[in-house]
Amino acid sequence: MEAIIRTGDGGPEVLQLSEVPAPKPTATQLLVDVHATALNRADLIQRRGGYPPPPGDADILGLEIAGTVAAVGRAVEGVSEGDRVFGLVGGGGYAAQAVIDYRMAMPIPDGWRFEEAAAVPEVFFTANENIFTLGELAAGEAILIHAGGSGVGTAGIQISHHAGANVFVTAGTSGKIHKCKTLGAIEGINYKTADFVAEIEHLTGGEGVDVVLDFIGAPYLEQNLSILKTKGRLLQVGLIGGATAEIDLGTLMRKRLKIIGSVMRPQSIDEKIAITQRFVDQWLPELKNGTLKPVIDSVFPLAEARQAHTYMEANRNFGKIILKLK
Ligand SMILES: NC(=O)c1ccc[n+]([C@@H]2O[C@H](COP(=O)([O-])OP(=O)(O)OC[C@H]3O[C@@H](n4cnc5c(N)ncnc54)[C@H](OP(=O)(O)O)[C@@H]3O)[C@@H](O)[C@H]2O)c1
Repeated sequence: MEAIIRTGDGGPEVLQLSEVPAPKPTATQLLVDVHATALNRADLIQRRGGYPPPPGDADILGLEIAGTVAAVGRAVEGVSEGDRVFGLVGGGGYAAQAVIDYRMAMPIPDGWRFEEAAAVPEVFFTANENIFTLGELAAGEAILIHAGGSGVGTAGIQISHHAGANVFVTAGTSGKIHKCKTLGAIEGINYKTADFVAEIEHLTGGEGVDVVLDFIGAPYLEQNLSILKTKGRLLQVGLIGGATAEIDLGTLMRKRLKIIGSVMRPQSIDEKIAITQRFVDQWLPELKNGTLKPVIDSVFPLAEARQAHTYMEANRNFGKIILKLK
């Protein structure tokens, strides 16, 4: 089958379209003809040699797929050849065929294109798990979502707004901030031209926010803690700016704060099935009825994975970058 492989660790030039053996489904897996997959920031890290797939998962990049079922393992129930499915995978998305545990494969809603389905799993699962399952954001609370124009940001803004929270974002351009507002953000802060701590204090009348969803890490840690209200929660989901920082633990104690970190990829199949189910119960109906939407920035053919990576690395996307195979 055709797949994008890495010829080494490095920049987009290490990505190459090649012929590789197709995967074989285990008893509980589906073999899927992939019609669309999507980029995630983690793919850039894996391309450079970090963020390895969990044991047993494909070394090929790609954390989510949408396609049609080509074959089913002998213990699979309720899914048949030809069904249109989408879901999260541990790896292997940038390929003509991929395997997925049948309990993590969701039926693609009627009327959806494969590109729309491929834009959903990683970012909506990540946003839901962090903001609600771990962060316990409640209606009427305030949340600051950094990198509001990221894939995860665009999902997080929508679900937080829909849940009745007051959503603030940071982003690097006024164009991205404008688009974040169309998704439900009350206000956006251009972190390149303004101090987000001073802006949040101003926007919240000095109160601060209940939850911060952060991908930047070390350079923002102290500032994030400073804008949290008493009993606030910081969700650490990415480390774009660095991993090591010093904080005043007194702040943590005085304000009774929680810092919660998580990574989805290495979690067990059972945990990922539960993550999938929470998304299906909570948000899939709202996506089906159009209240929420997958935010697609651009679509590249699989053969142009290099260009797609260069585009993401330049921070040009608002929402998801799709790779289309068929
Ligand atoms: N823990 C998990 O399970 C998990 C799962 C999925 C994703 N993630 C993490 O979530 C983050 C978003 O992923 P994604 O795929 O949605 O990303 P994405 O679409 O590539 O968006 C990332 C955005 O971050 C902003 N950015 C880049 N460098 C920055 C910096 N130094 N300071 C401030 N902002 C910066 C850029 O927007 P601007 O133009 O606004 O600067 C960029 O477009 C990544 O860190 C990823 O690793 C974690």
